Amino acid sequence: MEQETWSAVDAFVEETLVPEDEFLQAALDAAEAAGLPQIQVSPPQGKLLQMLARLQGARTVLEFGTLGGYSTILLARALPEDGRLITLEANAEYAEVARGSIERAGLGEVVELRVGPALETLPALEEEGAGPFDLTFIDADKVNTPNYFAWALDHSRPGSLIVADNVVRGGTLGQAASEDPAARAQRQLHEALASEPRITATTIQTVGSKGYDGFTVGLVL
Ligand code: SAH
Ligand code: DHB
Ligand code: MG
Repeated sequence: MEQETWSAVDAFVEETLVPEDEFLQAALDAAEAAGLPQIQVSPPQGKLLQMLARLQGARTVLEFGTLGGYSTILLARALPEDGRLITLEANAEYAEVARGSIERAGLGEVVELRVGPALETLPALEEEGAGPFDLTFIDADKVNTPNYFAWALDHSRPGSLIVADNVVRGGTLGQAASEDPAARAQRQLHEALASEPRITATTIQTVGSKGYDGFTVGLVL
């Protein structure tokens, strides 16, 4: 079983369960045209993320890593009219592309995009008294996932969800001896989750059009 099989299954799931959408497609086209890396969540993953936000009845969402705004648009659409999504993106060129796609999708009032490395933009959010966030999606630079998790937990409420993408990374999560800093960070995230009484969490491995990876979901207690 390998990539071709996984991609064919994802293609079928998309065809059957994930309807094409003009504005999401436009966001992908704009990202591709601008040469952004094609590393956004897959359509089936994105739909799950959107369903989690709906299940959660989320009104406030925090996202680390906007890229071209694909997951941003999905999450923002799950919010009620007065909902608010803050998304953090380090790369100013990516952010410009995302801004266009978010506005085209009619979500300019719902989404606030802040440009800069997240660890540098978080203090301002802190000062403004942002949060608590009903759902946080961590999907930026993987070495900082544990740092983003710590901040998200401090800006959550009982019942909040914290989702982290790309925690399995081809199986490196299971390799205690891995020296890859990003892989080590995902193990560190799990240790932090294990020793943290404020949250309960699990990790699901995935295969699909994006290969072998996985995501962590934490429920704040
Ligand atoms: N969530 C997006 C994909 C994000 S890809 C989607 O599924 O549609 C990861 C993004 O994190 C990239 O756009 C990258 O530029 C951004 N990033 C990398 N380092 C960052 C940092 N320190 N702070 C904020 N964003 C960062
Ligand atoms: C990368 C980042 C992601 O968020 C992802 O889902 C896949 C790959 C990357 O930086 O390579
Ligand atoms: Mg990701």
